[in-house]
Amino acid sequence: MEKILVETSPPLKGKVRISGAKNSALPILAASLLGTEDIILEDVPNLKDIEVMCEVLTSLGAKVEILDKGIIKINSSNINNYVTRYELMSKMRASFLVMGPLLTRIGKTQTSLPGGCAIGTRPIDLHLKGFKALGATINVDHGNISAYADKLVGNKIYLDFPSVGATENIMMAAVLAEGETIIDNAAMEPEIVDLASFLNKLGADIKGAGTSTIKIKGVKELGGGVHSIIPDRIEAGTFMVASAITGGDVVVENVITSHIKPIIAKLKETGCEVIENGDSVRVIGTKDLRATDIKTLPYPGFPTDMQAQFMTLMSLCKGTSVVIETVFENRFMHVDELKRMGADIKIDGRSAIINGVDKLTSAPVKATDLRAGAALVLAGLVAEGVTEIDNIYHIDRGYDGIEEKLSKLGARIYRK
Ligand code: EPZ
Repeated sequence: MEKILVETSPPLKGKVRISGAKNSALPILAASLLGTEDIILEDVPNLKDIEVMCEVLTSLGAKVEILDKGIIKINSSNINNYVTRYELMSKMRASFLVMGPLLTRIGKTQTSLPGGCAIGTRPIDLHLKGFKALGATINVDHGNISAYADKLVGNKIYLDFPSVGATENIMMAAVLAEGETIIDNAAMEPEIVDLASFLNKLGADIKGAGTSTIKIKGVKELGGGVHSIIPDRIEAGTFMVASAITGGDVVVENVITSHIKPIIAKLKETGCEVIENGDSVRVIGTKDLRATDIKTLPYPGFPTDMQAQFMTLMSLCKGTSVVIETVFENRFMHVDELKRMGADIKIDGRSAIINGVDKLTSAPVKATDLRAGAALVLAGLVAEGVTEIDNIYHIDRGYDGIEEKLSKLGARIYRK
């Protein structure tokens, strides 16, 4: 099994360019099932999860071509299957995002219930609540879930939690439904806005994306178009923390600074200098990192996908920091791994109390999910010795060339 090895590295220096957002590219690829003409996506990150989603689209009858690095052409004029195979769903729960498009495009869809994962049970009740409100019949048996609808009719849907996936799935189902759909308490993440702007390019009529109320007026059919994926705010945050934790001076390029405001604010609270400059942000670390607190929240709050990476930084901040994880019920799997490296962290329900230590030391550790894996890479950069990280397939799912990008900044990181 391949591992990533990280040696104690000097302060990172230089420039790094951020790739397209995984969590925007995945729903937009799923939404491509709604187009009846050619779709060209640009700035698509080169990730395992993207490969799996392309496999899912192909299995449903879409034509998918990689035109060049980061450029994918999709043509979904002949969708001839509505069943997503178990082994694809089990590889990536985001495959569940094809349900909304298939339901509204061909009136039926079947897939296996998406499994939970390391960070929580990951229910889909809000997705199904939305599909039912639009007129779909849902059946669940033997671990499979199917949805049928002769016709979807717009409706008002309230989301008990501003779920990103449920907002995306319901929005996609509503674009071809008859009449108007209103999603209340919708997720406001930038990836929702990117999905809506993509769908509107294809001919959809969506207003309010980015606010908690999204209005979708059903149209007859969607065409094609060209769309560039927004930059990945979580990859950007990860590299910003890499500069902070090593006391480096790194310019992170191709960012939308309004998407990373909580990360900028929290890095400043630890004593780092953060200079915004158009579509780049410069992070100058400090040896005297100060403790701070974070509470993860749906956007525009502090992103849960940055919680593990920030906890690594906090383990070296002087004083006591508190992390409260409000989005997922079990997103502290990285704590035990960080403690093996000398971090002083205590968990109390959804809170973690971190007492800053003078140094971390290397140890064999395991990535338990994508962001926890990134957090361990960051820890390895400053830990004494060589840190061996196992289960690195998690990292490959969500980071496009993390070793190359970090090595260019002076990190001592390699795969074996
Ligand atoms: C998306 O997952 C992201 N994945 C996650 O990123 C991210 O952590 C999450 O949003 C929150 O920002 C993609 O976009 C592919 P949710 P999603 O539905 O849509 C509860 C990463 O590392 N919930 O907003 O699955 C759920 O239990 C990944 O890139 C319900 O109760 O997240 C959780 O507690 C990890 N019922 C909360 O909402 C539902 O029907 C947030 O989940 C759906 C969700």
